[in-house]
Amino acid sequence: MNNGSLTQTISLDAASACARAELPCALVVFGGSGDLTARKLVPALFRLHQGNLLPSRFALVGCGRTAFTDDSYRAHLRPFCAAAEGFDVGDWTVFAKTIHYQPLDYDDVSGAPDLHAKLARIDTAHGTAGNRLFYMAVPPVLYESIIALIRHGRLKADCPGNACCWSRIVVEKPFGRDLATAVQLDITLKQTFTEEQIYRIDHYLAKETTQNILVFRFANALFEPVWNRQYISRVDITAAEQMGIENRAGYYEQSGVVRDMFQNHMMQLLALIAMEAPAHFTPAMVSDEKAKLFQSLRPFDSRTFAQNLLIGQYSRGHINNEPVCGYREEQGVAPNSITPTFAMLKLFVDNWRWQSVPFYLVSGKRLNRKETSIVVHFRDVPHSIFRDIIHPVPANRLTFSIQPTESITLSFQAKTPGTRMSLRSMNMSFSYGAGNERTVDAYEKVLIDCLNGDKTLFLREDSEYLSWQFLTPVIEDCAQCLKHREMLQFYPAGSSGPQPIGWAWTGRTDRA
Ligand code: BG6
Repeated sequence: MNNGSLTQTISLDAASACARAELPCALVVFGGSGDLTARKLVPALFRLHQGNLLPSRFALVGCGRTAFTDDSYRAHLRPFCAAAEGFDVGDWTVFAKTIHYQPLDYDDVSGAPDLHAKLARIDTAHGTAGNRLFYMAVPPVLYESIIALIRHGRLKADCPGNACCWSRIVVEKPFGRDLATAVQLDITLKQTFTEEQIYRIDHYLAKETTQNILVFRFANALFEPVWNRQYISRVDITAAEQMGIENRAGYYEQSGVVRDMFQNHMMQLLALIAMEAPAHFTPAMVSDEKAKLFQSLRPFDSRTFAQNLLIGQYSRGHINNEPVCGYREEQGVAPNSITPTFAMLKLFVDNWRWQSVPFYLVSGKRLNRKETSIVVHFRDVPHSIFRDIIHPVPANRLTFSIQPTESITLSFQAKTPGTRMSLRSMNMSFSYGAGNERTVDAYEKVLIDCLNGDKTLFLREDSEYLSWQFLTPVIEDCAQCLKHREMLQFYPAGSSGPQPIGWAWTGRTDRA
C-alpha cells in the first residue's frame, strides 16, 4: 500500500506534458450496447462534441454482444442524444460519423484480431494515431475476459519511441466486493495496465459542487481556521434517493447500500470534507491526503454496532403519491432478503483536527426526497447574551448541496427588523444555477479528464484498499445482517427512513 507519491508525481507530470496537448484518440467501450453507454456515455460525448471539447481526431468504437452494424448502432444511440436539450441534427450528423461498432463475444478471444483490424482501419480513417481509451461499461465479472482480449488482440497502443502515445482504461465501481476482491481486481487489471493507466471512476467526484469543496476550503482564508473540533460539533453527509433499485436486483442483492453507496461515494465525500490541505493541487498529492484521512478512521467496533450503525430496508409505500412495492417484492429480489437499502453510519476520525467529532453518513433508497448534501454544524456560541430572547441560539451551519440543487449556504443569526430585539436565522447562499455558465455533467467531466490524462478526480488503489479495510467489517458484521438479522428496520417507501434511537443525534434523517 506504499503510494510512492514522489515517483508518481514525477511520472504523472511527464505524462501530463503530453496529455495537455490536444491528442487524437479512439475510445473503445466494452458494453457498447448496454444501458450505461446509451444513457450516460454517448449523450455526454455528444455534448462534449457540441461544445467543441473532443479531440478533432476522435472515434468511438462500441463493442458488445448485440449484432449492430455501424449504421444500426448510430440509429440505436441517436434517440438518447436527441432527448437532451440543445440537440441539433447538424451536430449529430457530424458526431455520428465518429461512431462505430464491433460485435464481440467477451468469452472468445478469437474475436480480438477482428477488433484489432477494425481499430487499425479507424486509426487510418480518423487519424486517431493508435491512442486508446478503453472503457469498461460492463459488470466486473467480465473484466478478466476483456483484459485477456486486450492482451490477445494487442489492442493497447503500440508505438515505441513516441512518449505521447498512450492507452488508458476506465473502470467503474464496484471495485470488488471487499478488500480481498478489490486486490484481486487490481491484479487482473495490472496484468496489462499500470496504475497510472487505470482510471477508477467515482462519478460523485465529478459533480460541480463536490469539486468545489476543496476550492471552498483551501482557496478562502476564512474557513480553514475554524475547520476543526474546536468549532465544529458534527458533520452530516447524506445521499437520499427516491429511486428504488430499478432493474438491478441481481447486482443490488449482492451489494446492498453499504457497498453500493458508502464504499465510494460517501467515503469520497468524507475525504474531501475532512482531509488536510495537500501541498499542491496535483492528483498524487490529493490522493496522498485522502489516504491519510482513511488511515485515521477509527476502526469500526462491531461490539457497539447498535450505537454506530442503523440499517433498514424499504417496504411498500408511496413515492410522489404513486404506490410502490417493497424491496422484497421487487422483481429478482428474494422474498426474505435481508439486504439493507438504508444505512446510517456514525464514524470518527482519530487525528488532531477531528478527535471526538462525529461524522454521520446516511444513504437510502426510496426515501421521501432526492438529496445529496454535506452539512457542517458549528458549535453553539460559548455564552449567549441573548438568552432571555432566545435559548439556545441556533448554531451556524454550512451546507454543501450537491444535488438536486447545487449550492453552498451558510446559516447565521440576525436581528429581526423592528423596535423589539428579536433574532432570526438567515442564509447566505451561493447557487450554481444563478450563473450563466453551463454546468458540466459528471460523465462529461470524467470523460474529458480521461482524454486529457488528468487523474485528479479518479481513485488511487491505496485509497480504495483503505476504504474497504474500514468498511469490510461493517459489511461483514452488520450490513448483511449475518449476525444481526434483527437489526434490520423496515421503513415505508417515501418516508424519511429509520430514525436512530439512543444516538447522540439531534437531527432527522430527512433534515440534517
Ligand atoms: C450509483 C449507485 O453509483 O449511484 C446507484 O450504484 C445510485 O444505486 C447512484 O442510484 C446515485 O447517483 P446519483 O448521481 O443519481 O446520486
